[in-house]
Amino acid sequence: MSNKKRLKQKLKTSLEFSKNLFVTGAITETSPKVELEICRHIPRNRDVIIVEFGMGHGNITKAILNKISPNSKLYSFEVNKEFCDYVRKSIPDERLEIITDGAENMSKLINEKIDGIISSIPFSFFSKEKGMSIIQNAYDSLSTEAYYSQVLYTKFNFKKFQMIFDVCEIKKFYGIPTEYIYHCQKK
Ligand SMILES: C[S@@+](CC[C@H](N)C(=O)[O-])C[C@H]1O[C@@H](n2cnc3c(N)ncnc32)[C@H](O)[C@@H]1O
Repeated sequence: MSNKKRLKQKLKTSLEFSKNLFVTGAITETSPKVELEICRHIPRNRDVIIVEFGMGHGNITKAILNKISPNSKLYSFEVNKEFCDYVRKSIPDERLEIITDGAENMSKLINEKIDGIISSIPFSFFSKEKGMSIIQNAYDSLSTEAYYSQVLYTKFNFKKFQMIFDVCEIKKFYGIPTEYIYHCQKK
C-alpha cells in the first residue's frame, strides 16, 4: 500500500474512532510498535485458536493473521457494526471470524480452549464489575501457559489483571499517547 493511501486510511480510522469516542476509548489506532509487541506471545509453530477483543479497523487483526499458521483460527470481537463491515471487506481471510458482540459475551459464544487473547478494549470506560468479569472469563477460557495481552493508555487497570492472572508483566511505549501493554499468563 502506498504511503498516501495508508495516511488516508489512518485519517479515516481516526475520524471514526473520534465519532465513537465513548465506546472506542481512543482517537487513533495503536502504534505499529505495539501491534507487533502485543502479538509477542502468540505461539508460532503450531495451529492455534486466538481471540481478539476490540478489532476496530483491523490493524492488530492483520498483525495476528501475519503471525498464525494457515490452519489456525482467529475470532475477533467488535461491538461496532460499521467497523465489522469495514474489516469484512478489507481483510478477506478464511481464518478470521468476526463476531459483532462484546468481549463480555465471549465465554457464551466460544466453547474451545483458547491459545491466546489479544485485546485493545477500553477498560478505563468499563465498570469494575464488567472489567473483572471479562478478565476472569478470559482466564477460564485460556489453556495453561497461554497469554492474555492487553494494550491501554494507562497502567491503572494492571492491578485487576494481577488479581486474576498468575504472572503479569507491563511494558511502556513512549509516544503521544503513551501506551502500555500488559502481558498476563495463566500457569
Ligand atoms: C482503542 S480501540 C482499538 C482498535 C484497534 N484494535 C487498535 O488497536 O487500534 C477499541 C475498540 O474496542 C471496541 N470495543 C469497545 N468495547 C468493546 C467490547 N465490550 N467488546 C468488544 N469490542 C469493544 C471499540 O468499538 C473499538 O473499536
